[in-house]
Amino acid sequence: MTDRTILTLSRDPAVPLARNPHLLRWVDKMRQLTKPAAVHWVDGSEEERAFLCAQMVEAGTLIELNEDLWPGCYYARSDASDVARVEQRTFICSLSKDSAGPTNNWVNPYEMRRTLKAKFNGAMAGRTMYVLAFCMGPIDSPMSQIGVQLTDSPYVVVNTRIMARIGTRVLAEIDRDTKRVVPCMHSVGAPLAPGQADVAWPCNPEKYIVHFPETREIWSYGSGYGGNALLGKKCFGLRIASAMARDEGWMAEHMLILGVESPAGEKTYVAAAFPSACGKTNLAMLIPPDGMADWKVTMVGDDIAWLKPDADGRLRAINPEAGVFGVAPGTSEQTNPNAMATIRKNAIFTNVALTPEGGVWWEGMTDEPPAECLDWQGNRWTPEIAKATGAKAAHPNSRFTAPSAQCPIIDPDWEHPDGVPISAIIFGGRRATTMPLIYQTFNWTTGVYAGATMGSETTAAATGEVGKVRRDPMAMLPFCGYHMGDYFRHWIKMQRSLRETPRVFHVNWFRKDADGRFLWPGFSDNLRVLRWIVERVHGQALGRETPIGWMPRYEDLDWTGLPFARETFDALQTVDPAHWRREVIGHEELFIELHDHLPPEMIYERELLICRL
Ligand code: OXD
Ligand code: MN
Repeated sequence: MTDRTILTLSRDPAVPLARNPHLLRWVDKMRQLTKPAAVHWVDGSEEERAFLCAQMVEAGTLIELNEDLWPGCYYARSDASDVARVEQRTFICSLSKDSAGPTNNWVNPYEMRRTLKAKFNGAMAGRTMYVLAFCMGPIDSPMSQIGVQLTDSPYVVVNTRIMARIGTRVLAEIDRDTKRVVPCMHSVGAPLAPGQADVAWPCNPEKYIVHFPETREIWSYGSGYGGNALLGKKCFGLRIASAMARDEGWMAEHMLILGVESPAGEKTYVAAAFPSACGKTNLAMLIPPDGMADWKVTMVGDDIAWLKPDADGRLRAINPEAGVFGVAPGTSEQTNPNAMATIRKNAIFTNVALTPEGGVWWEGMTDEPPAECLDWQGNRWTPEIAKATGAKAAHPNSRFTAPSAQCPIIDPDWEHPDGVPISAIIFGGRRATTMPLIYQTFNWTTGVYAGATMGSETTAAATGEVGKVRRDPMAMLPFCGYHMGDYFRHWIKMQRSLRETPRVFHVNWFRKDADGRFLWPGFSDNLRVLRWIVERVHGQALGRETPIGWMPRYEDLDWTGLPFARETFDALQTVDPAHWRREVIGHEELFIELHDHLPPEMIYERELLICRL
């Protein structure tokens, strides 16, 4: 028997691991409400992880992968109806509807509490309630925040063990009582009657992902999947944290953080906001292209950044997460070798395909698909079946969960308690037209305008309408825990607490030519753009002034190792006034929606942009 098949623990998990009377009282109150068969205080140990994984293997929730190919890795298949975040079932229950704003679903908090109380009443019957204390950010960081999630999902516990710092060390912080604790309730909403057999992936067709921003509480019901159930991530890390940040003078953003080191050893950190499916993890784990091997990129984080001015007025950032929760399809040794190295061991794969050798596969992982495998629903899959039926081996939103520390290019300061200093902020979306490869905004407020009006194109498959731009301000549309207009105001106000603001840039890796071909190679070659960005920050690179901002000329980018035609670069960088006039009308649609909460600076910036065009 290996240590991974432990079926008993050396301690009694029901014995509380904390003394904090508020925590003990709350746990007991929630136990009485949800009526679990047992309570398990999570210590975060390796022994406990092995125990929970062994139990889930027994229950059919997890499959242990081939130890020689994928050491320490497990495989899960969700219920076919529980595969993604459910934005339409996500609620911001502030006291007033106006505080949540038009971009969020709102329900009166008193009404929602009544609903939730009924839903959670007996919701954990027949299951174990895990008391999962977690810290978002390094435990010793003054910028980190603590939560306790009560959950009836052991899958959530083992995933959170990767995604956050958990267990006794966090409970010790709670006993010290120096930080507020965010209570997070979670149930898969599938109570078991006495003698009732369980299913591999319990969940409920009715889902509620609820945030109370004033009281800083999260209640999630009905889903075991990713962003709905790992409450530290989107629910706390972005929605509740954004409300805290507004009140306390910091920022919680949907941003990667990376370091760029020049051949001379000068290190510059940048944070970048992109909507989903725009290559954030790929950029965060970039490998320099041919000809730029003497440059180095390091990853601090790939999804969330918490940014705060330090005592000297410098903006500093921490990654509140400890792991990556990435989309599997499209990830390969070609597109992101660092991601492949990160997930090679101690990872959990959900809704990818399972190969006969006990490995995993997904579309885009290798050029040659496996001759056969089991798809994400457990059905036999072959390339022939795929050809005939269009069946995907992996769900398009299938995921890997893996420790960030396993990333070969993890930054040496990624867990620095004071965070890393941010010199540049990058916004970017997926745009086939209009948006150039790169421009620098004129100043902080113009930068806020560029972020606020950011758009990304939907694909024909998703909407039936190619090139439809959805406004996704700062990539926070599904994640801002309050009124989007107030969020813009908060961004503008941040300048007052900064001695020097980070420079703000906008990029677009996805511009296409008239035949629909991408004009820019992307991936490693994005370092050419990053180089210009960091050199602009240090006053070392030239640019020309245009109506939308500063832009590099062809000779301002490093083309070593990449034969790239000047005409193609010119096409990439074209600012077409007709396209831009249409773009500004798109900005107005968002502004009308936000109307009375929109800071006047946004209107002035729009007018100035129109005049310059
Ligand atoms: C994510 C997302 O899972 O943005 O990171 O949806
Ligand atoms: Mn994300």
